[in-house]
This record gives sequence, C-alpha cells and structure tokens, in this order.
Amino acid sequence: MAGGAPDALRARADPLSGIPMRDAGLVEDEPSLDRVLAHSLEVTHSGAGFIRVLTRDRDHLELVAARRASAPASAAWAGPPVIPVHGNLIGAVVERGRPKISEDAGADPDGIEPGIDPPLRSFLGVPLHLGDALIGVLAVANKRSRYTPADEHLLTAFADHAAVAIDNGRLRRCQRVADDSRRRLYSELLAVTETERRCIADDIHDDVMQRLTAVELCLQRLRARIPRGPERELLEDVSAMVTKTDDALRLLLFDLRPPAMDLPGGLCSAIRTRLRMLERETGIRCELGAAPDEDVPPAVARTVLRVLQEGLINAANHSGASHLEVTLARRDRGLLARVQDDGRGFSVDAGRSPGHLGLTLARERIDLAGGWFRLESEIGAGTAVEFWVPVDPG
Ligand SMILES: Nc1ncnc2c1ncn2[C@@H]1O[C@H](COP(=O)(O)OP(=O)(O)OP(=O)(O)O)[C@@H](O)[C@H]1O
Ligand SMILES: [Mg+2]
Repeated sequence: MAGGAPDALRARADPLSGIPMRDAGLVEDEPSLDRVLAHSLEVTHSGAGFIRVLTRDRDHLELVAARRASAPASAAWAGPPVIPVHGNLIGAVVERGRPKISEDAGADPDGIEPGIDPPLRSFLGVPLHLGDALIGVLAVANKRSRYTPADEHLLTAFADHAAVAIDNGRLRRCQRVADDSRRRLYSELLAVTETERRCIADDIHDDVMQRLTAVELCLQRLRARIPRGPERELLEDVSAMVTKTDDALRLLLFDLRPPAMDLPGGLCSAIRTRLRMLERETGIRCELGAAPDEDVPPAVARTVLRVLQEGLINAANHSGASHLEVTLARRDRGLLARVQDDGRGFSVDAGRSPGHLGLTLARERIDLAGGWFRLESEIGAGTAVEFWVPVDPG
C-alpha cells in the first residue's frame, strides 16, 4: 500500500472478498492503486489522497491505499483503518453517491474524518463505481487553492481506474485463494490415498507374497523328487508361472508403495528402479536421460512418479516399443517430466474406450497439483507423455 499500511489493516479481511488482506495481498500487491493515487495527487495538486472501500456490511469504509504528495513512502498516511459511513465527509460521498468538495474539511457540516494526520483542510472525494455498484471513495485533500469542477472531472476519471484495479486485485486474490485450497485439498487427498495404498501393499506383502514363497519352496522340494519327463515339464511350467506371478506382485508392490521420496535423490532412484523392473519384464530398453541434481519435495516427487508410471505402463502394454526414455528438468519454478517411446503410437483425438482411465486420471492428478499435462502421439512415430508440476510456491 502507498505509504505503508498500519499493521491492524494488514491483518484485516478484504472488505470485498472477505479474504485476509495479508494473505490476499491487496495491500502489498496492488501497485496500480498506488499509481492511480500518485497521478490523482499530481493532476489535482493535492497534498494527500486515499482510497476507502465499503466493507461487506456497507456500513463502514476501509482504508486500502493512501499517499502523501511530498513525504517518503515510509511516512504513512495515518488515518483510522476503518471508519463508519455515517457522520463524516467521506461517508457523505457514499451516502449521496456523488462527488463532494469541501473548502474547510475540519469544519464540514457532514462531519470530519476522525484521527487523521495530516489534518484535512480542503477535500475532494468522488465515488468509486464498479458497474452499477458503488464500492468506495477516492479522495484527495489539501490543495493550496480551491478544488474546481475540472479537478472533480479528472478525479472521476481516475476513480474508474481505481475501481478496475480494486476489482482486478480482488479477482487475483480469489484466484490465489482458490489455487491454494485446491493444492491443500490435493495434498490431503494424496496423503489419504498414500496411506491406503501402503496398507494394501503391506497386506499383499505379508499375506499373498508369503504364501507364494511357500508354494515356491514346495515346488523346489517336488523338483528334487520328480525325475525328468512329462511331469517334471509340467512342474517347470507351474514354477515359471509362480515366478511370473511373484514378479507381477513385486511390480504391484512398487506401484503401491514406491521407495521413500524424502531421501536424497529419491525420485531419480525410484525411477531407475522402476525402469530396471520394466526392462526386465518387457525387454524394452529403458533409460533415464537428463535429470536435475536437486531434489523436489516428497509430495511433488510422488505425483511425478505416479504419472510417469502411467506413461511407462502404457508404453509396456500398448506401444510395442523397443526403447523408451524418461527425462526430468527444472523449468519455470517447477519440474518438467517426459516419457517418450518409439512404439506404434495412436490417435490422440480418437475417443476414449470406456473403462480406460489411466491417461485421464494422470491428467486430472496433474491439474490438481496445479500443473499441465500434454500427450503427443502419431501412428508409427511413438508416444510422448509430458507434464509440468509446480515445485516452488508461486
Ligand atoms: N504409449 C502408448 N502407445 C500406444 N498406445 C497408447 C500408449 N498410451 C496409451 N495408448 C492408447 O491410449 C489408450 C488409453 O490409455 P489409458 O492409459 O487411458 O488406458 P489404458 O492403458 O487402456 O487402461 P488403464 O485404465 O488401465 O490405464 C490405450 O488403451 C491405448 O490404446
Ligand atoms: Mg493406461
């Protein structure tokens, strides 16, 4: 805010959106309001100026910007953060819905603004309109000579700019708050699903995997007893099926419970492990290409790994590729990830078959994390899944 807002004001809710100003940033982030005030002072030759906005109950006016013509920014306008609409000359602008000029603001019949420093001598206030709604007052004060209708005309034009700036600030704040709550919701959702997945993984590990190990031991004992011949061949087939089932379950365990992401290099090491497993399982040559050195927060790493996995599983199941590459890069305060295969490709524009949800869920996951997701594929020319997720709070 111009001239620095009192702390009490910074802690308040924005009168229009109800969002705390400190969080919402109207006070800190609305340089355009300050510019409007600066120009208003300049063209009307005023000593001070301020903008007050109606609170939600429309009974009070809240100070959202203030400026003195000659003082440094640190020498703040000291006025009460909130004043009632009734009983003072600023409120009179709102009550009448039209501009007001006062030659002697200290003795105005509409009442003076209490506790203001420097004291108001002359005063010109114009209403701020947003569409049909009156939302506040733009006021200048302490001109050496009288305020004229020309000043009023100029200030009314500036009031339109101020109203738009206030509205833009409010929209930005709403957007920011919506983004924040979406991110919070997503990380809560992630935490819940991670816990659930961990429980399922533990159950599979402690129950099914143990039984499978017991079956493998029995098969080994049988192998020692059955001589070569048709029965032995059957036994080898069963044994191979058990090994495949064991591999598939271990892959599933990895998907459900990826290695710790909070260790240094956790994401890259999890991707390498996953690529090794995939290579063994499918024969596709899998590489981790470029990857940044710095780590990302575990929640971001988990999102990236889950979405990469969808790309990898799709490449394994649908592409017929002989080679695939994963790359990671830091980009625009976020992480850019890509899986590229050299397989048969497919028509991205073709409608989705019912029940095939992997790519849709991956896209939604990235949307929720505040990033973007792109799928590129061409028949005969392979498929690329590329996405970006924010890492540093913006
Ligand atoms: N890398 C790829 N190469 C070739 N076709 C692909 C590739 N990735 C996806 N596809 C095509 O896109 C379709 C949709 O993929 P999607 O991941 O949404 O579903 P799915 O893999 O079939 O099933 P699931 O719900 O288990 O993921 C696939 O069925 C496949 O036809
Ligand atoms: Mg899939």
